[in-house]
Amino acid sequence: PEAQKFKIGQSYGHVGQRVKLYGWIHRLRANKKVVFVVLRDGTGFIQCVMSGDLAAAQQTAELTLESSVALYGRVAKVPEGKSAPGGVELVVDYYEVIGVAPSGDDSFTNRIAEGADPSLLLDQRHLALRGETISAVMKVRAALLRAVRRVYEEEQLVEVTPPCMVQTQVEGGSTLFKLDYYGEEAYLTQSSQLYLETCLAALGDVYCVQESFRAEKSHTRRHLSEYTHIEAELCFLSFDELLAHIEKLLVNAVQYVLEDPVAGPLVRQLNPGFQAPKGPFMRLEYKDAIQWLNDHDIKNEQGEPFKFGDDIAEAAERKMTDTIGVPILLIRFPVEIKSFYMKRCQDDPRVTESVDVLMPTVGEITGGSMRIEGTEELMQGFKREGIDPKAYYWFIDQRKYGTCPHGGYGLGTERILAWLCNRFTVRDCSLYPRFSGRCKP
Ligand code: 4AD
Ligand code: MG
Repeated sequence: PEAQKFKIGQSYGHVGQRVKLYGWIHRLRANKKVVFVVLRDGTGFIQCVMSGDLAAAQQTAELTLESSVALYGRVAKVPEGKSAPGGVELVVDYYEVIGVAPSGDDSFTNRIAEGADPSLLLDQRHLALRGETISAVMKVRAALLRAVRRVYEEEQLVEVTPPCMVQTQVEGGSTLFKLDYYGEEAYLTQSSQLYLETCLAALGDVYCVQESFRAEKSHTRRHLSEYTHIEAELCFLSFDELLAHIEKLLVNAVQYVLEDPVAGPLVRQLNPGFQAPKGPFMRLEYKDAIQWLNDHDIKNEQGEPFKFGDDIAEAAERKMTDTIGVPILLIRFPVEIKSFYMKRCQDDPRVTESVDVLMPTVGEITGGSMRIEGTEELMQGFKREGIDPKAYYWFIDQRKYGTCPHGGYGLGTERILAWLCNRFTVRDCSLYPRFSGRCKP
């Protein structure tokens, strides 16, 4: 009978039918009589059985790991008690080889040997992507971006695409990537926040999903030089409303990922103990966090007890978050350790209406704040940070022409994924990670 072409994921529902499946040979096990192949096409995996003449032909070699093939055969239910993807297998009656992959020294398994040096695996990332874990994380990543966009759609935010090449900084001059822009100095953007702010009076609440760039020289498990930054900016709202919005985004987006028929099972497989966050999250003021750290004998960067105004560095932050063990909204950071644009708290001008969302295992996944509304105060912020306001005329105009209370935040996509998929480092959560010393493939 004619074979109908299917993607592997679709074929599970066609028991009894003769089908044609294209894909790559993911696993291969052969003896003289039978060949077992696991075929992969991105939509799923299927176990395929070849026997008789087909198995004999295989001994002549052109079926190798990672060869691309078309397999024809009947979809059969696997017997009770035997596990197989989709609960089916393909009884192959014919095959075509499309691209033979090498065997021997240059074979796939030799190129990405399990347990190889991580930097070798990164050199071979284009092949390593084909592995089950990395491809699973990439599928969860796609579902996460879809889920975030769905929440924004529900909340009626408008998506915009700000430029990556800019002439202003957002998060400090020390991590700027400079570039020669037709003879002028320009940078790769650190954050699209300032551009989002300018959109409020035109489009209302807005968001973007854009690459951000940070020249972070330190090698940590949660810093990349390029990462996918989900940012939103909202107008006519209070700090409490901003916090509630962030909570809702995280809770709902994670819920949508877990409900996704592809990504949900992958998250549970990668991270069996994962607890979906429920609002409201714990609120912890910076000053109380400092107290908590001192009570638990955790020291600052100088190895001394924390004092007001100290940065809470990665290790201390993670220790605290892991010990507390639930999502935390860390709020009201001192002016001096935050960026020039942050609004001060009315009841205590030493601190800002700022928030970091901390998740167990990763720490900070989101940073946000309310923004300064007045030109005068903004100028003081520039002065404090030693920034020449000239290049920011357009950002200042936002205050001049009908300012409004507003605030926003940025989420690190790879950090959320590290938390969701239980990865040790954000490098595992980027398609082709960029960090100092690595710009290939
Ligand atoms: O805390 P950050 O620096 O805040 C901003 O950029 C704000 N302007 C965002 C805004 O309000 N629109 O960065 C926001 C988030 C962090 O919480 C973290 O998750 C992620 O971006 N992030 C990084 N992720 C990977 N590698 C890096 N080097 C990162 N730097 C920040
Ligand atoms: Mg931050």
